[in-house]
Amino acid sequence: MKVVHTIEALRDQLRGQLRVAFVPTMGNLHAAHLSLMRLARQHGDPVVASIFVNRLQFGPNEDFDRYPRTLAEDIEKLEAERDVYVLFAPDERELYPEPQNFRIQPGEALGKILEGEFRPGFFMGVSTVVLKLFSCVQPRVAVFGKKDYQQLMVVRAMCRQFQLPVEILAHETVRDADGLALSSRNRFLSAQERAEAPNLYGLLQRVRDQIRSGRVDAATAEGQAMQTLRERGWDPDYVAVRRQRDLLPPTAQEIHGGEPLVVLTAARLGTTRLIDNLEF
Ligand code: PAF
Repeated sequence: MKVVHTIEALRDQLRGQLRVAFVPTMGNLHAAHLSLMRLARQHGDPVVASIFVNRLQFGPNEDFDRYPRTLAEDIEKLEAERDVYVLFAPDERELYPEPQNFRIQPGEALGKILEGEFRPGFFMGVSTVVLKLFSCVQPRVAVFGKKDYQQLMVVRAMCRQFQLPVEILAHETVRDADGLALSSRNRFLSAQERAEAPNLYGLLQRVRDQIRSGRVDAATAEGQAMQTLRERGWDPDYVAVRRQRDLLPPTAQEIHGGEPLVVLTAARLGTTRLIDNLEF
C-alpha cells in the first residue's frame, strides 16, 4: 500500500485510473472500516482510502481535539488486510491551504433536522470535505456506512444535485456481538458505560417492535424510548421514527401501509455521544 500525504502524489498514483473505489474515513480504523474497504474492493479497482480528521465538521464544544489519531496503527491494519492500494492522509494545510470561503450547505429539509439540529454545521463540514476528497480522488464509487444514516443521505443528495459521477454504496452497520454499533468513539466509554451501551440498540429494536405491532403510535414510542434512556443514565438528543426516503415523520397511514421506516437516535453516555439507527 502506498501512503501519500499530498494531492499531487495522490494524482500521480491514480493517473489514468477510471474505476477507483474510495472509502473516506477519519482514521482510528476498526473492523467496520475494514469491512467498508472490502466492499469497495468488490466494486472497483484500485481502492483508495483517506484518513483526515476534518475540523470543519466539528462544533466548538465537540471532540475534535480528543478524536483519536492513530495513523501508524491504521496503516498496519490496512496493510494486513491488503484491500487498499493508496492511503491518502493529508494534513490540514494540504486540504485547507487557505480559509474555506466556499462551503456546501445542505438544504434545510435534510441538513437541519436530527443530527443537523443538534450539530449545527456538521453536514456543511461533511459535505464540503467529501466534495474536496472526491475532487482529489475522482472515484467512480465511494462507500459509506449506514451507522451515519443521515450523512449517507446528505452525501447521496449532494452527488445527485451536483451531478457528481460517483456512485455511493451503503454498507450495513457493523456491530459487536452484544449489538453495539462499532464506532471510534466507543473507546471513550468506561467499562460501566460500555456494559450499558448496547441498550441503545435494544431500545431501537423495542421501538421497531412497538410500531410494527401497531400497539403504539410513533410519538408515544419515541417518548417512551427517550424516557427509558434518561432513566438508564443517558442524555438523549432524539429518538425519531422517520421515512427512509427523506427522513421526514411518517403519517399514521404510511406506518400502517408498510412505508419503509428507520428509527434513529443520538444520545450521550457520560461524555460520549453515540448514534445508531435501525431500518424496518
Ligand atoms: O464518517 C466519517 O468518518 C466522516 O464524516 C467523513 C465521511 C470521513 C468526512 O469527514
